[in-house]
Amino acid sequence: MDKILALIDQNRDNSLSGLIELLKIQSISSEIEHKNDMIYCADWLVEHFSSIGLNNCRTIENGEGHPLVYAQWLGAGSDAKTVLIYGHYDVQPVDPLNEWISSPFEPRIENNKIFCRGTADDKGQFFIHVKAVEYFLKAQGSCPVNIKFIIEGEEEAGSSSINDFIAQNTDLLSCDAVLISDTEWFADNLPSICYGLRGLSYMEINVQGPNRDLHSGSFGGAVDNPAIVLSKIIAQLHDENGRITVPGFYDDLIEASIEERNDFLRLNFDEAHYKADLNIKALGGEKEFTTLERVWVRPSLDVNGIWSGYIGDGVKTVLPAKAGAKISCRLVANQNPEKIFQLVSDYILSLAPPSVHVTVKYMHGGNPVLVPKQNSAISAAAQAFRHVFNIEPVFIREGGSIPVVETLSVFLKAPVVLMGFGLPGDNIHSPNENFDLNNFFNGIKVSALFFEYFASK
Ligand code: BES
Ligand code: ZN
Repeated sequence: MDKILALIDQNRDNSLSGLIELLKIQSISSEIEHKNDMIYCADWLVEHFSSIGLNNCRTIENGEGHPLVYAQWLGAGSDAKTVLIYGHYDVQPVDPLNEWISSPFEPRIENNKIFCRGTADDKGQFFIHVKAVEYFLKAQGSCPVNIKFIIEGEEEAGSSSINDFIAQNTDLLSCDAVLISDTEWFADNLPSICYGLRGLSYMEINVQGPNRDLHSGSFGGAVDNPAIVLSKIIAQLHDENGRITVPGFYDDLIEASIEERNDFLRLNFDEAHYKADLNIKALGGEKEFTTLERVWVRPSLDVNGIWSGYIGDGVKTVLPAKAGAKISCRLVANQNPEKIFQLVSDYILSLAPPSVHVTVKYMHGGNPVLVPKQNSAISAAAQAFRHVFNIEPVFIREGGSIPVVETLSVFLKAPVVLMGFGLPGDNIHSPNENFDLNNFFNGIKVSALFFEYFASK
């Protein structure tokens, strides 16, 4: 292994320049004007995978969706273990653009961090494994395990089409472990293995009032204002204790055990630092739960966007004809995204006054997932982290979602390892997203060691 680890150090420039090329591609999956960038990015990856010696590298058409990218190296033979690496090449939109210190798709390095949309989420993270495989093949012409990559382009838009692909291609994707780096550490300098992700149920609500925008003087006071109606509906979705009021919302939920809640306490979450970092004086949420519990083991309901009326400069005295909001619920086991949508939608409709027409549309969903904390793949991951960082990794949950994880673990029946390299200050989904370069370069070593340790388990 010393030879590989040395090669990883010697090739830092190569690793970084490849990453920079990948980062420059504006692969925003949810914006239709970037459709060609998505295709370009998928093709770039295929080309890159072939250039480092992988086989069967190709894009896979994905119905209406953005292409998947597949590549493999099966030279370890049928007796050896196989690791499937999942990642996503799509990134979040960049707005608000004016809050970026430098252009979102021009990678910039400062204080040993690389700034660019997609650095930590997820290009920088899955590229770690691409490089680890590259250096194994360069150093010894082989890898200790068989390798398969499946990289999707729709994770940030809900991963709608990859589920069918997985269900129909279990042979192509069959493996002994699924390795995913798309999560973050609990704190700087604290390598973390994630074992739980929340699910998601995403919907859009539209409130239609009168058939046109009205003069707020001629009509105000006599015609119900859709923006106010919508605000009142939204305001009724939580009670004064922070609990979601939707009837039946908590029915299927499995409560976290005392043992698990005690494990969280032992992580010594620094709430003062959390608030200071966000520049807020107080936190919110369900009264009887801690912050970590609120984010990791409790569901939540949020407004992701809300619109109505005039928001330009100056004044316009208008009573808007319509109002709308995007609403998402984060879910925990055993809540079901479609069932939750139905409950929330029914409740919203029950709150609507007869003066408006309210519709609620389901956008997408993903199941919550818990992966086992003990198996040979997880212990190989822990061993690899320990080797490189000299610290015992901690086990954490995440409040975010990776919708495909549940699908992969159900259909492939292989353990999933959520071995993230992000840090809490990476600003994923926010302006000035960045990725720590120590974690990038060291991550390549962790990945290489994971393959080595897992091979011999
Ligand atoms: N990498 C994130 C998941 C994540 C978020 C991990 C926070 C750790 C901390 C992933 O790319 C993501 O953002 N997923 C979306 C999925 C959604 C659009 C279905 C999410 O959680 O919002
Ligand atoms: Zn993301």
